Formats: sequence, structure tokens, C-alpha cells
Amino acid sequence: MDLPGESQTRRRRGRRNPAAINRRKTPVDTVVAVSIICFQVLSIQAAAIQFTKEPKSQDALHGRSAMLRCEVSDPADIAYSWLHNGQPLESSERRFQEGSNLKFTAVDRRLDAGNFECVAQNTASGEMLHSTNASFNIKWLESGGVTLKEPSSEGEIESSAPVTLRCHIDGHPRPTCQWFKDGLKLTEKSHQINNKERTLTFKSASPDDNGLYYCCAKNAAGHVCSNSNFTLNIIGVCVCVCVCLCMTVC
Ligand SMILES: *[C@@H]1O[C@H](CO)[C@@H](O)[C@H](O)[C@H]1NC(C)=O
Ligand SMILES: *[C@@H]1O[C@H](CO)[C@@H](O)[C@H](O)[C@H]1NC(C)=O
Repeated sequence: MDLPGESQTRRRRGRRNPAAINRRKTPVDTVVAVSIICFQVLSIQAAAIQFTKEPKSQDALHGRSAMLRCEVSDPADIAYSWLHNGQPLESSERRFQEGSNLKFTAVDRRLDAGNFECVAQNTASGEMLHSTNASFNIKWLESGGVTLKEPSSEGEIESSAPVTLRCHIDGHPRPTCQWFKDGLKLTEKSHQINNKERTLTFKSASPDDNGLYYCCAKNAAGHVCSNSNFTLNIIGVCVCVCVCLCMTVC
């Protein structure tokens, strides 16, 4: 009973006050206008290329596989390509584009150094977008031999004089090195071992040091031993004297 009365009152008020009707219409117009603007903005955004996946800088192991990913929100009409240090990437069996991603069957610490970026191009509109640059932190470990560092040649090795051997195993991150004499591990207590230089020094070499020396090293990329040994063969003073005596006597 009350409701019709109320609605009549509202209608009457409405009729009596046309300004109120105008005020009511205004927000509607605004909503329509905003909707149109929003729709236009949305259509522009839909047309623009947007990456949903960009290649990320990452750790990699030399010789192992890796993948750099690239993806856009709307892949219709999108052609992907990759740049390496700003240059178009040449595909090989080792490193090739697979769909939109870049696949490495075996990361190479020299060939894969530097920046990789993904380029997405809309083949219909010509629009092009470059991803961020990504690079590999390539971990590696490479074997080498044991060489004589000091003196410069084996012929110059003298008893009671310093001798330094160097381990040519290299890698990233810097490998930690261990020395072996006749298969037994040498300790830093009994020997002068420089881990940074990867050297083993005898301050005063003696025939007691004679033996077969090699080194092994490890880091995050693995563990290897030297690919050549060094045989230290110091002729003692006593031996020299004996030989001299022998020769004199003979
Ligand atoms: C990526 O790196 C290359 C060179 O390596 C450079 O030319 C290019 O401008 C870089 N791109 C970005 C987005 O930083
Ligand atoms: C080094 O010496 C060890 C122990 O005698 C031996 O097993 C190894 O084969 C040698 N390595 C090379 C490269 O000669």
C-alpha cells in the first residue's frame, strides 16, 4: 500500500525537478565515455607485443645442455628470432632455436659467452620487441699437465735449491687443487702449497723429494687430475761425490 505512494512521490519529484534528471544522466554518459576509452586502450594493448617469458641469466655447466626461454602473451602472427652479442644467431647442431626458445645441447664456455636476446616480431604489423639480455655464468674445469715453473729447465734442478711445480688445471669458479707424490696426498703442513697459483714449492729440494708428482682439482663443474705427471729426480751431493770419486779412481 505504501510502495505505490512512494514511487508516485519520486515520480512527482522527478517531474518537478528536471535538473535532477540531468544530473542522473551525467554519470551514465561518463561511464559510457570511460568504457569507450578503456576499450580503445585495451585494443591498443592487445595489439602490442608483450613478453610473458624473457630469457634469464643463469648458471650453466660447460658441455651440458641449457635453454633460454622466450614467449609473448599473444603468439598469433609472431615470428621469433635470437641475437647473440647483438648479431643474428647462426643455428648449429649445438645451439639452435626450438619453437620460440633457444636450445643448447652443450654449452661452450667460449662460444656462448656474452649476451643473448630474443626478438619477437609481428609479421602482420611489422611491430618488433627485444627482450632483456641474458647471459650464462659458465662453470668449467679443464685438465692440464704438471710442469716445472722454477728453475726454467729440468737440467737446472739442483740439490738444496728451490724447485716449484705448477698444476695446469684451470676452471671457473677457481678450482681447489691437491698434490700427490707417488699417489699419496701432500698436506699443506709438510709442503709449500700455493692454492691461488696452484704451485708446489720445495724451498730446498733434496733427493728425499724424488718421486712422481701429479695434481687433482675440483670445483662446481667437477673433478679432474692432471693429464701429465712430473718426475722429480734430484741427484744427491753424496751420489755426485761417489760418481766423481769413481771416475777419478777409474
Ligand atoms: C644487449 O646486448 C647487446 C650487446 O651484447 C647490445 O647491443 C644490446 O643493446 C643489449 N640490449 C639491451 C636491451 O640491453
Ligand atoms: C701419472 O702417474 C700415475 C701414477 O703412477 C699414473 O697412474 C698415471 O697414468 C700417470 N699419468 C700420466 C698422464 O702419465
